[in-house]
Amino acid sequence: MIGRGNGVRVSITGLGTYVPERVLTNDELARTVDTTDEWIRERTGIRERRIAAPEQAMTDLALPAAREALEQARVDPASLDLVIVATVTPDTMFPTTSALLAGFLGARDAAAYDLLAGCTGFMYGLAQGYGMVAAGLSRCALVVGGDVLSKIIDWDDRATCVLFGDGAGAVVLEPVDEGGFLAFELGADGGGGRHLSLPAGGSRLPASAETVATNEHYVQMNGPEVFRFATRVLVSSAEHVLAECGLAIGDVDLYVPHQANARIIDHAVRKLGVPEERVVRNVDRYGNTSSGSIPLALADAAADGRLRPGELVLMTGMGAGLTWGSAVMEWTERMAA
Ligand code: ACO
Repeated sequence: MIGRGNGVRVSITGLGTYVPERVLTNDELARTVDTTDEWIRERTGIRERRIAAPEQAMTDLALPAAREALEQARVDPASLDLVIVATVTPDTMFPTTSALLAGFLGARDAAAYDLLAGCTGFMYGLAQGYGMVAAGLSRCALVVGGDVLSKIIDWDDRATCVLFGDGAGAVVLEPVDEGGFLAFELGADGGGGRHLSLPAGGSRLPASAETVATNEHYVQMNGPEVFRFATRVLVSSAEHVLAECGLAIGDVDLYVPHQANARIIDHAVRKLGVPEERVVRNVDRYGNTSSGSIPLALADAAADGRLRPGELVLMTGMGAGLTWGSAVMEWTERMAA
């Protein structure tokens, strides 16, 4: 799917994030699985990640991120009419995390639903929120992307446990007079879905003592296949969405790729020809936070003074499904000074 929408201007008017306090370093991991700090840094660029406390679930990450985003947008939660939470680690399958979150926020008049698109969830959520606001169905939407992957990782599997971390981000989407989203490109390849999966707990393989014994409630990944897919779509999706807008990579002020692995980002940066000073990277501090990755990167760029109104921002995510998604926008947020 690719398109420039209906011309109604919609933008991010508030941005908030949350990461758990607990920092897990590579050296700590090397004490529990057969790995080293050097291997993890060289192959992934990751130095540390945040891990949720045992009692923390997705809404515990989403709530502070959402409150910060609403505060920046100066929006009363009661005036939200849509809450989308993109996550593969909801508190429970139902009630949905979005409905619980809307309740905690006091968003009494909001429609609320969860969205499952793996690490691309935030990009899909942005496109849906944009579509709802641009179509006039929503006047003020909250889109949250985040995951508590630590809860579905096999901590004895060195090939996956070193890659991921926990975190969440939230944005408020509203109509604006200038700038905002210019285009989206989203896609999916179910044929490759087997390369990154959570086999048990759904209707194909319901939870049982056997599925627990065989570790099928944990993330299963074919690393090299996912690597090949990720490097390919990170480039092609960015090229397609820019072409849709008649823009070139040289027009992009800030490039925000999904933070899965520094080598995947390096490949895209090289192929696309993005100057390094325009690339946002924080995979070293957070690892792969799935749907939380892009909003966390946006917030880091904002904190560093790299995200200014009028600048052209290109974001691309990719992940389980397999899925991918890009957006181009002109940053116009109305954040508190
Ligand atoms: N420490 C030490 N050795 C390890 C570790 C580890 N943590 N993990 C794997 N190895 C070993 C393997 O067992 C293998 O050993 P062998 O040669 O004796 O069999 C060796 O390292 C090489 O394994 P590869 O999988 O070929 O290593 P590669 O260089 O491809 O790196 C990695 C693996 C980092 C997982 C890479 O494939 C990758 O990043 N894939 C993408 C995964 C990803 O980003 N998934 C996130 C979800 S989707 C998304 O967000 C895009």
